[in-house]
Amino acid sequence: MFKFSGKSLLAEGVGVSVLAEKLGTPLYVYSEASLIESYRSFDKGFAKFPHLICFAMKANSNLSVGRVFAREGAGADIVSGGELYRALLSGFHPKRIVFSGVGKTMDEMKYALKKGIYCFNIESVEELHALNAAAKSLKMKAPVALRVNPDVQADTHHKITTGTKENKFGIPKSHIVETYEIAKSLKNIAITGIQAHIGSQITSVSPFEKFLKVMLELVDQLSAKGIALKHMDLGGGLGITYNKETPPSPSDLAKAFEPQLKGRSLKLLFEPGRFLVGNAGILVTQVIYRKRTGHKTFVIVDAAMNDLARPALYDAYHEIVPVHKNGSAKETVDVVGPVCESGDYFAKARHLEYPEQGEFLAIQSAGAYGFAMSSQYNSRPRAAEVMVSGKKWKVVRKRETLEDLIRGEK
Ligand code: LLP
Repeated sequence: MFKFSGKSLLAEGVGVSVLAEKLGTPLYVYSEASLIESYRSFDKGFAKFPHLICFAMKANSNLSVGRVFAREGAGADIVSGGELYRALLSGFHPKRIVFSGVGKTMDEMKYALKKGIYCFNIESVEELHALNAAAKSLKMKAPVALRVNPDVQADTHHKITTGTKENKFGIPKSHIVETYEIAKSLKNIAITGIQAHIGSQITSVSPFEKFLKVMLELVDQLSAKGIALKHMDLGGGLGITYNKETPPSPSDLAKAFEPQLKGRSLKLLFEPGRFLVGNAGILVTQVIYRKRTGHKTFVIVDAAMNDLARPALYDAYHEIVPVHKNGSAKETVDVVGPVCESGDYFAKARHLEYPEQGEFLAIQSAGAYGFAMSSQYNSRPRAAEVMVSGKKWKVVRKRETLEDLIRGEK
């Protein structure tokens, strides 16, 4: 919950400028109430269907963020051994963890088998054989869903489209039945479900509807072959409002799915990331310098593409607001960071209240794929993260130090 009270931006009951002054910038600020609200709206939206929401940890893998969802009863969607480690520390029950990703290693699979996770989403025949071998070496049966590549356009940015035949993800739908037959023949594999994920930041219902149709056709083909599934995992991908987008709500989606799902008892799994955390976080930064070149006006801030890579990587739009409105006239500016790349910007030709040196700005909708994608590029220690709950706040990740930059180096 980020909103203005008079001229000042609040995170729930705490002034954002208070946090910035106390903790320094760049600073990620999360609202616990927003995290809970988005989770509950998803959960409520699909209340009609048996379902499990597995938070896609890649969007924000901070332990305290995970803990909020684990407490709500969510599961986790992980894509590496590192995310499994974090998921368990956050308190997610292993029986609510699904393991996605196109290139899981033997070591990662064994780690997850030993922890007893709910399901592996398998993306190729070779991976299926590897998992069978890993499970055999541990004298276990590995629970499996095959990830389908449904060849459906998600109508989103090409770098975050995952469900077309151009993408590396999943098993082509035309190979699915034969791959399940292989899975059935493997002694250490237990077929559990079917999964797909068609892309991210999807802002209309229709790609999801088309994709559901493909999935249900496959479920029926498999059932005709005597392969019964317990769950159908529809991945993540539900978009949020960064600027003027009007994405469907979870309950809009559920309504759209209802006719197709009537009379079916399959448990639904979802892997939302962005929807759960995107608008629950902001990145606070301080204006270092302003520069008028005659051609343009640049506002140079202390956060950079290493802290929030989305504008540099995807030309993504993030709203920027002053943390304290200073009442000055609006100007058209580029908001840029200190990293030595022209791609290091947060906004281009943005109409903003002209900020003073030293003022704080809030880059909004930064809770998903923000800190999680940050790096130390240009030897910049990573930002601190703070969680606000009502009038209370807690640092949930310390700002990195210079020593952190060289840890492990000789
Ligand atoms: N499940 C799978 C298998 C995925 O690959 C993803 C995201 C998700 C779930 C969660 O999707 P979401 O609900 O967050 O859309 N870094 C990019 C987004 C990459 C998404 C990758 N996969 C960005 O900042 O826009």
